[in-house]
Amino acid sequence: MWFLYLLFLIFLSWVYIKLTSGICKSGQHLVGKVVIVTGANSGIGFETAKNLAERGARVILACRDERRGVTAKDQIITATGNPDVHYLHLDLACFKSVRRFAMNINTTQERLDILINNAAIYGSTLIKTEDGLLLGMQVNHFGPFLLTCLLLPKLKSSAPSRIINVASMGHHQGCFDLNNLNGEKETDKTVNVRKMYYASKLCNILMTVELDRRLKGTGVTANSLHPGCVDTGIITTIPVVKHVLFIVRVFCKNPWEGAQTTVHLAVAPELAATSGRYFQDCCEAKPSRTAQDLELARELWEVSEKIVQIK
Ligand SMILES: NC(=O)c1ccc[n+]([C@@H]2O[C@H](COP(=O)([O-])OP(=O)(O)OC[C@H]3O[C@@H](n4cnc5c(N)ncnc54)[C@H](OP(=O)(O)O)[C@@H]3O)[C@@H](O)[C@H]2O)c1
Repeated sequence: MWFLYLLFLIFLSWVYIKLTSGICKSGQHLVGKVVIVTGANSGIGFETAKNLAERGARVILACRDERRGVTAKDQIITATGNPDVHYLHLDLACFKSVRRFAMNINTTQERLDILINNAAIYGSTLIKTEDGLLLGMQVNHFGPFLLTCLLLPKLKSSAPSRIINVASMGHHQGCFDLNNLNGEKETDKTVNVRKMYYASKLCNILMTVELDRRLKGTGVTANSLHPGCVDTGIITTIPVVKHVLFIVRVFCKNPWEGAQTTVHLAVAPELAATSGRYFQDCCEAKPSRTAQDLELARELWEVSEKIVQIK
């Protein structure tokens, strides 16, 4: 009997998740617009890129693996009938790659209307990149930070344009020490992967807040979002989740549903002037108090500039 009761509860939760999952209602076309989606070969990024290609945009899939990137490009072209979809190599864990990618875009594309910083990883301990940074922090924060800075002139000259940063509600548990952003003080014993992921997602929102301040009057907007709990590759790398995946999946959105808030921020005409905000289920939501700290956002920007050596 208790088993039937449990099944019924699971069913009710599933119905609730489906009914409250925000859907982008805008039919806005994007013909003539140029969009970059990082991590577009799978999960939320793939569905986002497909949706924007369906709307007629030129979509550049910025992915680290050529085979996965080209496969995704072919699938999107077949599904949407839009041939203007391209794979371009980008490894956010390598500043040289980020600089090469940005230079390529800045020299080959006349405009850039929408930049979607979507790519991220969850699981990485004290692995250091060739730039000497913690892998998780570089892929999730420093790489997207450098990319955004290098593409700002193009975004400004194409205004009105939009920057969308895919964060996570996990940022509520995020905190970091500005003097230890690269985890120099951590050891194999003290490092906490979950803490590092949440800290990087908090950085995504603070970067958005500072972008908004710096971009006032330029016609470039920046917003961040939580996509929901989505059944993608990233959740399979979370140790606790990995063992109970079959049950977690029941409570997850599918990748199409997970992409809706990103697409909404990218296309909704009513958001043309909205900037510096945080969204969830296609509605504005309240981020943590730390994520709204203007002074911390400014300081994080300045420390990040030094670390990526852009100044
Ligand atoms: N799924 C969720 O429940 C959830 C919840 C909250 C927030 N998010 C956020 O949603 C975003 C998308 O994640 P997802 O759920 O769609 O997971 P996913 O399917 O694992 O997608 C992550 C993407 O990032 C790419 N990536 C990883 N390392 C990279 C690097 N060094 N350079 C360039 N690209 C790299 C991956 O490429 P490869 O295929 O080559 O690894 C993949 O395409 C992330 O920002 C994540 O933090 C997801």
